[in-house]
Amino acid sequence: MIFNYLPFALATAAASVYAATFPVTVSTTGHAVPSTLYGLMFEDINSGDGGLYAELIMNRGFQQVTPGTSAALQAWAALGSTSHISVVKSSTAVSTALPNALSLTVTSGTTGTVGFTNTGFFGIPVTAGWKYSGSFYYRFPTSPATQVSGSFTVDLRSTTGTVFTSTTVPFTSSAGWKKVTFSFTPSSTQTSVSNLFALSVNAATVSGLTIEFTLISLFPPTFNNRANGIRMDLSQALLDMKPGFFRFPGGNNLEGQTPAQRWAWELTVNDVVNRPGRLGDWGYINTDGLGIYEYLQWIEDMEMEPIMAVYAGYSLNGQSVASADMQQYITEAINQINFVIGSTSTAQGAIRAAMGHPAPFTLNYVEIGNEDFLSQATASYASYRWADLYNALSAEFPQLNFIATSATSGFVPAISPAPKFWDLHIYSNPNFFINGAFNFDILARNGLQFFQGEYATTTQNSGASLPYPFIDGSIAEAAYMTGFDRNSDIVFAASYAPLLNHVSSTQWTPNLITHTPNSVIKSTSYYVQQLFSLYKGDTYLTSTTNTASSPVQWSATKNTAGQQVFLKVINTATTANTVVFTLPFGTISTAGTGTVLTAASGTMNTPASPNAAAPKNFTFTAGKTITYNAPGLSASVLIVSAH
Ligand SMILES: *[C@@H]1O[C@H](CO)[C@@H](O)[C@H](O)[C@H]1NC(C)=O
Repeated sequence: MIFNYLPFALATAAASVYAATFPVTVSTTGHAVPSTLYGLMFEDINSGDGGLYAELIMNRGFQQVTPGTSAALQAWAALGSTSHISVVKSSTAVSTALPNALSLTVTSGTTGTVGFTNTGFFGIPVTAGWKYSGSFYYRFPTSPATQVSGSFTVDLRSTTGTVFTSTTVPFTSSAGWKKVTFSFTPSSTQTSVSNLFALSVNAATVSGLTIEFTLISLFPPTFNNRANGIRMDLSQALLDMKPGFFRFPGGNNLEGQTPAQRWAWELTVNDVVNRPGRLGDWGYINTDGLGIYEYLQWIEDMEMEPIMAVYAGYSLNGQSVASADMQQYITEAINQINFVIGSTSTAQGAIRAAMGHPAPFTLNYVEIGNEDFLSQATASYASYRWADLYNALSAEFPQLNFIATSATSGFVPAISPAPKFWDLHIYSNPNFFINGAFNFDILARNGLQFFQGEYATTTQNSGASLPYPFIDGSIAEAAYMTGFDRNSDIVFAASYAPLLNHVSSTQWTPNLITHTPNSVIKSTSYYVQQLFSLYKGDTYLTSTTNTASSPVQWSATKNTAGQQVFLKVINTATTANTVVFTLPFGTISTAGTGTVLTAASGTMNTPASPNAAAPKNFTFTAGKTITYNAPGLSASVLIVSAH
């Protein structure tokens, strides 16, 4: 995220009513479109825990909380009137990483059922036929004189106590930690997500005893059936965009509020019992169950490639690591990269192999820091942080491309060694994006490549905020994105941000996709991203260009192997405009298929109205000349066979 910027093109009022015909002559020549051009930017904002990461239990390991406080009990409640729960610092921690436990005290003489419930991340989906896989650790800190045994019951239930699925887990009164696993499969689907996970026990069997629990975990089926994996429906929505890359782990969430609170890869690997979690940069605790390995495995499963960031010695409290202290972070970055691509003879590659992936992952791009042109970050990045990291990392990994951060299109600070790749971020209003369609056209072709690593229409032209993307902003983004197609000789990647938002835990709006525990709401900007990504082609075809202030922008690309030509037409005006394409190919199909996203000004897809705007397919008459009447506020692609 970014909190200020130097706009390259100053926003001026765009013509909103216009009616004209735009003749476009398409050439057979152009330049290659990089496979990475359209992809995803992700950090744990609104949605890593409780979002992408499929874990259903909130505050599962009591990470980074203060024992004895009510805050430490977030998402947990006691079940049964005569039991007591609290978070304690365990006298025998399950691991160094997880010092705390949930303590259940059962008063002597209690009968009935006692235990506790968890709300999940603002709800728990109950889906018929899903096999839920759970596990937890327990121990009896003060062993009774006579060994006690019995069974715990685990279930999913409504808030009023109707049990949908359950199973039992036997226990004995061991003083040492024991890990147990279980599974259950509900036979009916609940439309409501106001459900609870419950763990309970017959009070008579443990009367007068205390039991500690930790790392209480429950997973639904995950994408590609990965253990400790990623949510299926969100993965599918993203897969439907065919994204080329995935930028992670931030964003601000890389940086920490202080250097000590930075995202550190080594605290996110190995079994989750060995991950301490950290206070993320968006106001909540990250479990780091979604660690570097889980990201990389999912990126591979999704057929994306990573754009992975390394911490660059600057944190959000404005503190830069002193020049003399940089070596620790340089070593950490080298180790992080070795975790991804190092041979299994490196210590880090060996951890990767032990986690299940001996082969190196794909890695071509490494980003050094995040938004290092902002405020206090600038001076130290320019004077030593960039150079120290770049020189050390490129000596160690000469095959990798290192990306400097971060400025807007017209503002690339001079730093040394000169970066070959820059990440630029921009958040603005619709007029900015409409007028910015040519921002990259005027930049020098001097070998410097650009990553528009974050961008979005975040306000209306009036400055009013947006809870969700609206069609006016999404179409403006589409006009801007024709500039990515056209300038893909110097723009190698671009990603909207932020990606995801849990409807009940929002730190920033708008977002590309909003979700509840059991539904996915695709925004108008999602459909624009999808349109550009699915129809990016492999070659940009030069065509007649427009002016920045014009209401209509377009681009032509082709998919060489498929002998298809993609003509994108973006009409930012509220009235229809006509575009007439003249194609240079010898053989062109007489009919084409198209997709159009259009809606009345102000339209948003919201949880209450998730399908207010969605793309529609159509067919049209094709040939050497194609006349297309683009509706007001529309993004279209016309697809023809041509060679
Ligand atoms: C439009 O066509 C595409 C490509 O054939 C298809 O995947 C998509 O489902 C269609 N959409 C609608 C709304 O029919």
